[in-house]
Amino acid sequence: MTAVHEELRNVPPVKLVVQNVSKTFATRHGPVHALDDISLSVREGECVCMVGPSGCGKSTLLNIIAGLETPDSGAVLADGKPISAPGRDRMVLFQESALFPWLDVMGNLMFALKLKPNLNKQARREVALYYLGLVGLGKFAHSHIHELSGGMKQRVALARAMAPNPRVLLMDEPFAALDAITREQLYDDIQRIQEERPKTIIFVTHNVREAACLGDRVLLFAPRPGRIEGEFPVPLSRPRDFGSLDVARHASEVMHALKHHLQSEGMEATE
Ligand SMILES: Nc1ncnc2c1ncn2[C@@H]1O[C@H](COP(=O)(O)OP(=O)(O)OP(=O)(O)O)[C@@H](O)[C@H]1O
Ligand SMILES: [Mg+2]
Repeated sequence: MTAVHEELRNVPPVKLVVQNVSKTFATRHGPVHALDDISLSVREGECVCMVGPSGCGKSTLLNIIAGLETPDSGAVLADGKPISAPGRDRMVLFQESALFPWLDVMGNLMFALKLKPNLNKQARREVALYYLGLVGLGKFAHSHIHELSGGMKQRVALARAMAPNPRVLLMDEPFAALDAITREQLYDDIQRIQEERPKTIIFVTHNVREAACLGDRVLLFAPRPGRIEGEFPVPLSRPRDFGSLDVARHASEVMHALKHHLQSEGMEATE
């Protein structure tokens, strides 16, 4: 472990508190009540997964926590301080990797590491290579983005989000477009990185098993108005194997509740 890694390790994860957050969008078809009085507390280093039918406000809540969207009422507190804008302590990873195509793989990571002005260029290179190694792309540091597969791009995006060692990582269906094998590799990557440098993670997904594999807790959202309908702790040891019976059992509990809720609303489950 080098001094650089020590420096990056010394960043404690954040406690997030969502207090009575509501949000209504004005649309051509009238108001859409995306979030209704959401309250939630996420402890330092916890991974909370959010599942629920399309349109129930998961992305809206994530964007509010990221500071990309403002609530109509209520507040989000990070370590007790209200969030009002995006901040370097919170990294967001979306479904599309949003890498910079004019930079190579290393360039993308080095760009993100500019968030760490106390690291000199050599130290930033060292950190970038370390994270590329963690996601299995050490040999692709100088590849152009267009030369990578979709799965490889998403791994670069994960490394880029993790490299500055943010205190909070917000992920919105980051692996939805990937094949099953790549996804499973990424579950391992996330768990490994999380073990080394814990962060407070909020992870939105439609894949209930993914939620049970990664989450310390799974929150079930319901739409119209967007609200938290149920909460499922996943007290399994880590690292977890996506294919394990334990993960399947917890996933089926959540799926059961989701189906039950959808049936009572006259809707159908998507996954
Ligand atoms: N900028 C916006 N303007 C108007 N309506 C919006 C806006 N953003 C979201 N909405 C509406 O708010 C509701 C919640 O949207 P949101 O994207 O948070 O849902 P979601 O749970 O992330 O859905 P999905 O699973 O499909 O991603 C939806 O009805 C959506 O149409
Ligand atoms: Mg969404």
